[in-house]
Amino acid sequence: MLTRRKFVHTVGMGAAGALTASYIGARGREDALWSLSTPLEASGAAQAQTMIPLSSNENPLGPGQVVLQAIQDAFGPQGATPGRYSNATGALRDALSGHLGVTPENLTLGCGSTQILRTATHVYTERTRALVGTIPTYEECAGYAAMLGRPVRAVSLNRNFQMDLDELADASRGAGLVFYCNPNNPVATYTGAQATRDFIARVHRISPDTRILVDEAYFDYVTHPDHESMIPLALEDPRVIVARTFSKAYGMAGLRLGYAVAHPDAIRTLSAWDSGSGTSSLNVLALHAGVAAIGQGTAFTDAERARNKAVRDFTVKWFADRGMRSTESHTNFIFTNTGMPARQFRDGCLAKGVRVGRDFPPFQNEWCRISLGTMEEMTKAVAVFGEVLGKVAVAAA
Ligand SMILES: Cc1ncc(COP(=O)(O)O)c(C=O)c1O
Repeated sequence: MLTRRKFVHTVGMGAAGALTASYIGARGREDALWSLSTPLEASGAAQAQTMIPLSSNENPLGPGQVVLQAIQDAFGPQGATPGRYSNATGALRDALSGHLGVTPENLTLGCGSTQILRTATHVYTERTRALVGTIPTYEECAGYAAMLGRPVRAVSLNRNFQMDLDELADASRGAGLVFYCNPNNPVATYTGAQATRDFIARVHRISPDTRILVDEAYFDYVTHPDHESMIPLALEDPRVIVARTFSKAYGMAGLRLGYAVAHPDAIRTLSAWDSGSGTSSLNVLALHAGVAAIGQGTAFTDAERARNKAVRDFTVKWFADRGMRSTESHTNFIFTNTGMPARQFRDGCLAKGVRVGRDFPPFQNEWCRISLGTMEEMTKAVAVFGEVLGKVAVAAA
């Protein structure tokens, strides 16, 4: 059982550097400074064919036919040639500005939102101005800050696995950047729009020069009544930056495309360091895919949210029926107290063809993150979970 701890942890640069060195070699982006995770085991070639992958929070259906067609057309008879640099960034910026109701000057693109997160960490933290975030959270900014020798302050979640906004605001004093991941990965919880606006206002009062990076990677999966983007706030205030990605609900994780929405001053600062709206880090296929994805309006993401919710409800109920609690998920993954160390559960599932999430300290002794697949995949997966955990439904027991 998690006890509420007033835990603000500042990672010294030496320790951070050592941790980061091991993290960079081990895995890619989905790795940790402040979750101190262990590598996933190789699954073996034969199993990889049939493995149900529930470890990386992807859309199991991918981007859909419209986007796949756009990728083909990009190099078709009417399209570009891969031998030329692409100028398709303008088309995507235009599509996004229409979709979001912003101007192209409010946008910068990235090779995944990873590029946005790294750039923001780079330009807004310093050796004397820390990065602040929760523990656990998505680890990209912390890992990158550590690599740059910038201090990291990590604040515990509250007993409901929500961000502790009081603690987080206090920790922001004098900080360079607050990483505000909402919904928060890996715990899946969401903080309502009003509470988020109040938090941002409070940080501004306590620490007027601190920037806040609101990561809305899972925005399209939220089913909370008080659900609004922080984009309107970011347009007005250069201290707020919103990061978005095509990797989750749009099903384009492998294509690598993300973007930031912010005040033109903030966009200039980000772009000056890393010109994400040029062609250097973006590939033409992803750009065409992005335009097509946005061209579908909200129909695609609405359908994906509804599909995911049905799978989420089914999976959460399966665990609840067997006495296992999950946090309130507003994402395409769940965070569940299986009562078994994450590694043991993961190894057991892996041996039976299901790959679940890695360790997320300090919760690795009982909790596991499980990304949601299709209903068919989850029906198979829960049978495996039952075997590994040795649990039967409470009602049936
Ligand atoms: C909260 C969050 N932000 C950002 C990312 C980075 O995603 P990408 O670089 O694919 O856009 C992830 C990936 O899992 C994530 O969970």
